[in-house]
Amino acid sequence: QSAEPVGTKLIGKHVVLTAGPTREALDPVRFISNHSSGKMGYALAEAAAAAGAKVTLISGPVHLACPAGVSRVGVSSAQQMYDAVMSAVQKQCDIFIATAAVADYRPESVADQKIKKNNDEMIVRLTRNPDIVAAVAALPEKPFTVGFAAETNDVLNYAKGKLARKNLDMIVANDVSDLSIGFNSDSNRVSVLWKDGQHDFGKRPKTQLAQDLIDFIADIDGRHLG
Ligand code: CTP
Ligand code: CA
Repeated sequence: QSAEPVGTKLIGKHVVLTAGPTREALDPVRFISNHSSGKMGYALAEAAAAAGAKVTLISGPVHLACPAGVSRVGVSSAQQMYDAVMSAVQKQCDIFIATAAVADYRPESVADQKIKKNNDEMIVRLTRNPDIVAAVAALPEKPFTVGFAAETNDVLNYAKGKLARKNLDMIVANDVSDLSIGFNSDSNRVSVLWKDGQHDFGKRPKTQLAQDLIDFIADIDGRHLG
């Protein structure tokens, strides 16, 4: 068998992605975070590069190697991810794909020194983080913007709400109530929604799903936005 054919669909395009969790510091040794593995975002970055795109992957802390041909920017907090994304999309960006599980809130203040357990209870006040994908979709020269929605219930309705509220071109809806797919698993089953359509991708390995999604995004982007 010969080597994989090198794709051409995204030649000349710059694809920017976010992936993985963010970490929100409480003090120098502690943070709030989540279980995102980054697998879906890394697989999409690899598939976009294989399709000929220039790829920038803004990644929270994960245990994954940077795919070949992808340029990775490592970040920790949501604010750092926001800053890295805004600087990456500033020049030319054709497609932005937000797969990161961005922490919705961060501790309102970060202690300079390690917090001591002086009390029987501790209250941490949290404050909202910026919405990265919504900020990209609000840019005057907006790239084709794709979000992910991981939901446990009412999946399609919540996803449709996010598509509209964040002004996205497309959203990938993911039912994470089924533990054999989603967050930490190697397979996934998703539905893709956009303004005037829906397409269901049955359960398949994340690497295969990533190639199929990149193909699909490239086709729709080409059709709708020239
Ligand atoms: N997202 C983002 N920045 C944030 C929060 C979310 O870019 N601060 C992106 C995610 O990467 C994903 C999409 O928005 O592509 C949806 O994320 P999700 O957590 O499902 O949506 P939220 O708007 O945060 O709503 P909620 O968590 O309340 O369901
Ligand atoms: Ca969220």
